Amino acid sequence: MGRASDPAKDAEADDVRFGQAFVTDIWHFAALSTELRPGRPIRREMLGQPILLARDKAGALMALRDICPHRAAPLSAGTLVTEADGATSIACPYHGWRFGPDGRCRAIPSLTPDQTVDAGRIAAAAFPIAESQGLVYVWLPGPGRTAPDPIPDLPVFPGLTARGARLVESQVFETHMDHAVVGLMDPAHGPYVHRQWWWRPDGSAHAKDKAFGPVEAGFAMLPHQPSSNSLAYRLLGGAPVTEIVFRLPGLRFEHVKVGRRELVALTCLTPESETRTRITQILWSDHPVFALARPLVRWAARRFLSQDGAMVNLQNANLPFGPGFIWIDDADRQARWYQALKREWVASRREGRPFTNPVAPTRLRWTS
Ligand code: FES
Ligand SMILES: [Fe+2]
Repeated sequence: MGRASDPAKDAEADDVRFGQAFVTDIWHFAALSTELRPGRPIRREMLGQPILLARDKAGALMALRDICPHRAAPLSAGTLVTEADGATSIACPYHGWRFGPDGRCRAIPSLTPDQTVDAGRIAAAAFPIAESQGLVYVWLPGPGRTAPDPIPDLPVFPGLTARGARLVESQVFETHMDHAVVGLMDPAHGPYVHRQWWWRPDGSAHAKDKAFGPVEAGFAMLPHQPSSNSLAYRLLGGAPVTEIVFRLPGLRFEHVKVGRRELVALTCLTPESETRTRITQILWSDHPVFALARPLVRWAARRFLSQDGAMVNLQNANLPFGPGFIWIDDADRQARWYQALKREWVASRREGRPFTNPVAPTRLRWTS
């Protein structure tokens, strides 16, 4: 006789199973502030649903499920209008129904004065949306949950200043968020996936020993000197000191200090669907070499991402066969931390208790 299945337990396993579930009840990176121009709504897919992102003339943001409750036209193809009371709404391109930032239907233009459809009872789902440091985030709650009040603060990344984004590269990987995340934090793939004379020449691999510790909703590789085998870093001059932070749901932040100069690399992973993940890489720097070498840096960033993308495509050929995975110490420890963080995040939200970071301070060693 088979094992009696406990539906509650099985559901629990499902919402954290590697390569399947999403991290919810958290701010997800949605777009760059510069992508949201006043009066020009855009459509994004996040966690398997289409979402309209818009900014009105006064600068206020809105995020709605991008499906008109009437007959499913994408609201993002509509127009932002100013209501008589000064509020902004989005008018559906199909029949002009208008929805406010809270998702409530404000007007149904086809109604005659004697017809009584209570528009206020019709709504598109609305999501909290906020921006900071040039980044727009949307709060995506788990099934059946709503955003907490007050809503937690947005992540803050030291070194991202009003200088603005200097270089942005965005790609979509045809894989689940989990594979994209662990690929991003995987220290052992560099010499294989990113092997090139200017980054990881053949034979340059050597033993690494780095200190790690917990940070808010994630962990950090504590400030250290980057690999001496990286020619690109040597070009910066001086003795760069690097800190790398990962935090849920999929934000990796690399902060390099070279004397008084800074280089900040932020990689934001947004799950679009179970099989698609948007990667947005943003580089800022006040280092003169960065300004000079911008086209080169852009080319390198694009190449790095494409190499990772090509690898997940190769891996994809086998995921439909349901393979298992092996996580070894210490090279895969960060990938295990990610899974532990995700499990604890999901469990703590489900149980309505504070999140306890499962990562303890430690040193990790590997060769790359
Ligand atoms: S489909 Fe949107 S108003 Fe009809
Ligand atoms: Fe990579």
